[in-house]
Amino acid sequence: MNKIIKYLLIAFAAIFLLIQFLGPSAPATSTENPEDLLAVPQIDPQVADILRTACYNCHSMETKYPFYSRIAPLSWWIYGHINHGREELNFSAWESMKKSSKVRKLKDITEVIEEGEMPMSSYVNMHPEARLSEAQKELLINWANTFAREVVKKK
Ligand code: HEC
Repeated sequence: MNKIIKYLLIAFAAIFLLIQFLGPSAPATSTENPEDLLAVPQIDPQVADILRTACYNCHSMETKYPFYSRIAPLSWWIYGHINHGREELNFSAWESMKKSSKVRKLKDITEVIEEGEMPMSSYVNMHPEARLSEAQKELLINWANTFAREVVKKK
C-alpha cells in the first residue's frame, strides 16, 4: 500500500478513537418521572403509543440510545437534538408546567404535526416506526386540541 495512504488511515483511526473521549456526554435519562404526561392515566393509549414511539426519545427523560448514537462525532449531533428538544418540550416535566405553557405547547404540537416538521426527518430515516401515517397525525392533532380545552377547564 502507498505509504501516504497508510499514514493517513492510521491518523484517521487515531483521531476517531481520540474523539470518542472528547465532546459532551449523553443527556441523562430517568425511568422515574412522576411529572410525566403519561404517568397519569389520562391519555388515550393510542396517543400515548404514538408519543412514545415518535417523540419521547427527544422530548422526555426516557431517551433510549441505539448503539450508534453513542459514537462520536454522530453522538454530538444527536445529543444536541435531545438537549434542544427537551428544552423546547419535555413531556417528563409536564405536570410541573404552567397551564398557559401546556396550552401553548399543545398548540405547537398541532402545528409541527400539520407541517410535517416533527418527528425530525433525520430521525424518521433511522426510525421508520416513527413515521406518522395520516391517521396517526389526525389522531394526535385531535387529541392535542381536545386536551388543550381540558387543560384550560381544569383548575
Ligand atoms: C430527533 C429528535 C426529535 C424527535 C424524535 C422529535 N422532536 Fe420535536 N423537536 C426537536 C428539536 C431539536 C426541537 C427544537 C428545534 C426545532 O424547533 O426544530 C423540537 C421542537 C419541537 C416543538 C417546538 C417547536 C416550535 O416551533 O415551538 C414541538 C411542539 C415538538 N418538537 C413536538 C414534537 C412531537 C409532537 C414529536 C413526535 C411526533 C417530536 N417533536 C419528535 C427534536 C425532536
